[in-house]
Amino acid sequence: MTRFVCTSNHGFAPYAVEELRRLIPGASFRMIEPGAVFELTADGGRDEVLARIRRDEPIFLRHIQPVDLALPIAGGPEDLGALAGFVRGRSGRFAGRRTAVHIRRREGTPFPYAVSEAKAALDDALREIGAEPAMQSADVILSIYASGSELLVGAGTAEEMLSDWPGGAIRFRREDGQISRAKFKLLEAERTFNLRLDKHERALDIGAAPGGWTSLLLERGLRVTAVDPADLHPSLAGHPRVTWLKRNAGDVSFPPGAFDLLVCDMNWEPATMAKTVLHHAPSLQAGAEAIVTVKLLHRKPLQTIRNITEMLGRAFHTRRAKQLFHNRDEITLYLIHKGE
Ligand SMILES: C[S@@+](CC[C@H](N)C(=O)[O-])C[C@H]1O[C@@H](n2cnc3c(N)ncnc32)[C@H](O)[C@@H]1O
Repeated sequence: MTRFVCTSNHGFAPYAVEELRRLIPGASFRMIEPGAVFELTADGGRDEVLARIRRDEPIFLRHIQPVDLALPIAGGPEDLGALAGFVRGRSGRFAGRRTAVHIRRREGTPFPYAVSEAKAALDDALREIGAEPAMQSADVILSIYASGSELLVGAGTAEEMLSDWPGGAIRFRREDGQISRAKFKLLEAERTFNLRLDKHERALDIGAAPGGWTSLLLERGLRVTAVDPADLHPSLAGHPRVTWLKRNAGDVSFPPGAFDLLVCDMNWEPATMAKTVLHHAPSLQAGAEAIVTVKLLHRKPLQTIRNITEMLGRAFHTRRAKQLFHNRDEITLYLIHKGE
């Protein structure tokens, strides 16, 4: 039996559970933080379960932490001593490697230490055994979840845990003059899907206003055709590499092969979004990439996603479907245009 702490965006844990039930027959589940954090117990071993999840990554699972050790919380310094003991007992796992410590606390946990205090103590323990404490790009992550009664402790790589951020909660710094929070969605998609936006030349941005995605594409060096009946931010509307059409995207068309990237973040119901994206597919080059958000307006998101990817399947292969941390009631699709 192996235990894991699993995390999804708030309210979407039931769908992550539904996906995991299909993936890992016989698994059992227990909610820890309603709607967002739950425990998975599986018959298979740690590596087998993590490999299965990476092979067929669930849309709504944001983060998974194996539980190598569960320590009852005493509520005093002995808790830090026990965590340091875990580090010393597995020195071979950490020594000589860049090691990040991720600590998450369930609200109301009796674990008495703030994240920064516990992290400082564990960084000291890591140095003692010859590991190098690291914040980002770590070789291994020591992940600790303080629940209502136990410290759930596990080590693994960012790939195994599906993220190199605690609980998959990736944070970007807000820039001065940033046009919209929506920009974070495309930034996160770029990282999560390993996109090389700078390899593209001409993008079509559907539902572009106020222009967060357009601004990121400009930063990556692209020319952008932005379509939206709403106003684009003035700094973009007059930009020399932006063509802004203040129109409904269903009412405009472009020449065949005009674009090598399509992005669409229009806030409309999914079937209309899919029709609009399909309407523009002929203006994409074969093999063009597309990043599209699907708004989850109905109660059956998994069914909605199946229907939409099937519709889009006329012109696109779905490479990934993922609810990103910056997606609220939506998911993001990474598509490849099939060509003629
Ligand atoms: C969530 S906002 C997009 C935010 C944008 N990605 C950014 O980074 O600033 C959704 C946009 O979709 C636009 N939209 C909705 N229906 C549309 C349509 N049929 N054609 C073009 N744009 C549409 C709305 O006007 C709105 O500006």
